[in-house]
Amino acid sequence: MQPKQTIVHLPVYQPGKPIEEVKRELGLTEVIKLASNENPFGSSPKAREAIEAELSNISLYPDGGAVQLTEAVAEYLGVETNQIIFGAGSDEVILMLARAFLVQGDETVMATHTFPQYKHNCQIEGAVSIEVPLKDGTHDLEGMLAAITDRTKIVWICNPNNPTGTMNTDAEIKAFLAQVPPHVLVVLDEAYCEYNTTDEFPDSIELIGQYQNVIALRTFSKIYGLASLRIGYGVGHPDVIRSINQVREPFNTTRFAQAAALAAIKDQDFIKSCREANTAGLLYLTKQFELLDLQAFPAHGNFIMVDVGRPAGAVFDGLLRNGIIVRGGHLLDFPTSIRVTIGSQEQNEKFITALTKVLADVPVQV
Ligand SMILES: Cc1ncc(COP(=O)(O)O)c(C=O)c1O
Repeated sequence: MQPKQTIVHLPVYQPGKPIEEVKRELGLTEVIKLASNENPFGSSPKAREAIEAELSNISLYPDGGAVQLTEAVAEYLGVETNQIIFGAGSDEVILMLARAFLVQGDETVMATHTFPQYKHNCQIEGAVSIEVPLKDGTHDLEGMLAAITDRTKIVWICNPNNPTGTMNTDAEIKAFLAQVPPHVLVVLDEAYCEYNTTDEFPDSIELIGQYQNVIALRTFSKIYGLASLRIGYGVGHPDVIRSINQVREPFNTTRFAQAAALAAIKDQDFIKSCREANTAGLLYLTKQFELLDLQAFPAHGNFIMVDVGRPAGAVFDGLLRNGIIVRGGHLLDFPTSIRVTIGSQEQNEKFITALTKVLADVPVQV
């Protein structure tokens, strides 16, 4: 037996260690996970109630078209229902995009340091990923434009970018889109857009109305706090959405995910409170990093990447021994940085206490 050639050298995704395993291995009673950009405040209580109410239907397939949820999200965004597609997380929308649009030999353009699932899925389809280095941690849109050829099918822009947390502004994205040839689909991955507090963040819904070749990806995993349920969506032109729908599995999102997302999108008070707490946490961490003389990228999501000036693996290990799980930059090609999710104030304070201790123990990398 031979798997398809494009996956022969593909690594298997390595998830971070679960909290329970870290507790057991290190004999710790309390472990704080700030590694996967989850919501430290959980999810809306209304989402939980909706799941409980749905339990009696556990033996029935979900609505494959997620009609009720589609209507609610379309109304919330001010778009038509045929402009929305749901996936088992926005991860699945990325997969479906690659499946629907890419064949062997196509090219796609993305940043060198960005969300890895773009490259992963493009590779599976046999497409060539042209990677453009970030500029000061931010997508270099001029460089990406220059990388577009006649063979380019998709350009991926992660905004705010994971792992750096940086943002491309509305003006930058508009200037970019004005020059992208119409045969190229531009994916704006906005998994963290609800955390934005600046006026400069692009209004991707407006852009979708203007450009048929733009799709925005959003998720219920981050600020909505429903990561375990796996539900995210794409918003774009009906023709693009139809193509994705053609490759979608019949029942790709569960009843529980749909019910919880429906309740969650209606509870915008919860979202507002999470955004405010995130902004306060971001300010706190930024200030603490300054006091520790550490440089961080300007963050626009619910995580921050900070240069700890020491080997990231050693700082990661030190934090782990103190019961804090972060994402080590050594795994992301940022050898002296760590990416940390903004937690609750209590979690942020514990993280800073642990980091201060660890920095004193790990020699500075010169
Ligand atoms: C930029 C970005 N896009 C997409 C995702 C996928 O999220 P989900 O599949 O949970 O919707 C993530 C998750 O970390 C992310 O950081």
